[in-house]
Amino acid sequence: MHDKVTPYTLHRSDALQVLRTLPDASVNAVITDPPYCSGGQTMAARAKPTGEKYVNSDAKNKLPDFEGDFRDQRGFLAWASQWLAECHRVTRPGGHLLTFIDWRMLPTMTDAVQVAGWVWQGIVVWDKTNGCRPQRGRFRSQSEYVVWASRGPIDTQAHPVVLPGVFSVHPQRGGKQHQVGKPQVLMDKLMAIVPPAGTVLDPFMGSGTTGVAALCAGHRFVGIEMSEGYFGVARDRLSAVSQISAA
Ligand SMILES: C[S@@+](CC[C@H](N)C(=O)[O-])C[C@H]1O[C@@H](n2cnc3c(N)ncnc32)[C@H](O)[C@@H]1O
Repeated sequence: MHDKVTPYTLHRSDALQVLRTLPDASVNAVITDPPYCSGGQTMAARAKPTGEKYVNSDAKNKLPDFEGDFRDQRGFLAWASQWLAECHRVTRPGGHLLTFIDWRMLPTMTDAVQVAGWVWQGIVVWDKTNGCRPQRGRFRSQSEYVVWASRGPIDTQAHPVVLPGVFSVHPQRGGKQHQVGKPQVLMDKLMAIVPPAGTVLDPFMGSGTTGVAALCAGHRFVGIEMSEGYFGVARDRLSAVSQISAA
């Protein structure tokens, strides 16, 4: 359903397959957090289960592994260019793309964004503050990135917000329901780029953090997730939020 009472549509399927069925220029923004396919310098390191790659020892095995995190750089570039091109088609002119990525995959992601036809507008930094391990002899891996782009030029008069370029949010703020779930507070802050009463698309919604932020901000939401378990978590979270909003 996608109406006043239930302002969201969820698909449990492969993102690319669903994106191909969505109408042209039907959303205001794509805000997403795809599998990074990161986590090591060698193919063997990248092929490890997501829990081993991304979760520290204390939290390991508490949440299930997720799908799609296996591509090498070239495979990622080809694949991301495809879904980003579909997202570009589905976004209204002047609409925004925000896609998370880490330092290792940042160059590949910015290439893919441009290959897909988006106008690359910049990088927003997620500063994880002290919420990451100190490592002897190394800089802390303290940030992740949001690649920001638009479909053509942005009409800054239409939605004249003034937003920071760095968001300092501890990774655990907001209660994690996915192995690599983003803090709810962070997603709420990013949502400010979307004009009022818009529609937000997340083709890799995981536990639905983007959807919760979208609904709380008064937007409609379209979400896609391949994993059955995480799809169920997202469905339950969005149902709870929309019941509170409707009450
Ligand atoms: C990084 S996680 C998103 C986490 C989310 N931001 C949250 O806060 O819960 C990426 C998600 O994309 C899903 N995924 C991977 N490949 C996919 C595909 N081809 N189609 C749809 N979902 C996919 C994974 O199962 C995973 O849950």
